[in-house]
Amino acid sequence: MIGAHLAEQLATERHEVALFDVAYERERFASQFKQIRGDITKGNDLDKLPANTDIVVHCAAISRAELAERQPERCMNVNVIGLDNIVRWSLRQKAVPHIIFASSREVYGNPDTLPVPESQLRQPRSTYGRSKALGEALLAYYGTGHNQPYTILRFSNVYGSVHDLPERVVPAFARNALSNLPLTLFGGEQVLDFVYIDDAISGIVQLIDGISRGRKEVCNATYNICSGRGISIGEVARLTKAACASDSEIRSLASREFDARAFVGNYSKARADLGYGPSISFEHGLSLYLSKLRGGKSLA
Ligand SMILES: NC(=O)c1ccc[n+]([C@@H]2O[C@H](COP(=O)([O-])OP(=O)(O)OC[C@H]3O[C@@H](n4cnc5c(N)ncnc54)[C@H](O)[C@@H]3O)[C@@H](O)[C@H]2O)c1
Repeated sequence: MIGAHLAEQLATERHEVALFDVAYERERFASQFKQIRGDITKGNDLDKLPANTDIVVHCAAISRAELAERQPERCMNVNVIGLDNIVRWSLRQKAVPHIIFASSREVYGNPDTLPVPESQLRQPRSTYGRSKALGEALLAYYGTGHNQPYTILRFSNVYGSVHDLPERVVPAFARNALSNLPLTLFGGEQVLDFVYIDDAISGIVQLIDGISRGRKEVCNATYNICSGRGISIGEVARLTKAACASDSEIRSLASREFDARAFVGNYSKARADLGYGPSISFEHGLSLYLSKLRGGKSLA
């Protein structure tokens, strides 16, 4: 989802863009930019990437924590070995591209204090979070030892795209609320930081701009891309139900072992270095998202 939205945005800014994915993003992009079908776990597939690439924004991943718990080997293969293949490809290029790595707030696990700065100790609880922490370590290894330039973006929970995975909390609540079906919470007290898709894309574009201008401070740096506001999952359910004027029942199940209890990010560093700042409140973002859904676009 994030990669496709970013590609659309960059194409409107007249960047030359190629999307590399194991699955095509339907026909909606056909004329806008080059699409390459390939698997990052197969090193040779990466040779299909354009040779003169300046920046790789690495978004490909097993991105669902629940799927990663069920299939840890697949998660490790895509999220860590896949990244290793990308860096090896990058180091083979005449001019080594800058790699932007889409990491996650899941690397923090259950942080001791909120809001969480990038300097906070990483204690991932989930398989997915550990795979992202390994990816970050891998980039530090190649960055120091092989001069591979990189930047890590730790996203909080990104929402607001009609192309989001339907299992994620906001799409699942929205879909069910619009159909008056129950909204299921896994321990509704969990507090998360939700950042609207347009704000997340702005953060990446601002970083690309900084890299293109040769800003040294963004090189080999890590940034939180988040909203800075915590909302409980129970509150997300109530807000979604109210915004949809829905009769949905809100059901609570036991919390899941791998879920963090609370995350709220601190984005001061991204604001200082990139000029990043979220501009869309959760309530506004939710209403924009629901309008898109009501406009008839599918959740798939
Ligand atoms: N969406 C969020 O809330 C969020 C939060 C934190 C971090 N992230 C990270 O940001 C990145 C993008 O997230 P997203 O929400 O767009 O995820 P997504 O699951 O929608 O997109 C991931 C893409 O990777 C592709 N992919 C999977 N395996 C591949 C392989 N072996 N080779 C090539 N492509 C492959 C998929 O086809 C998919 O298009 C991911 O790395 C994710 O872990 C996302």
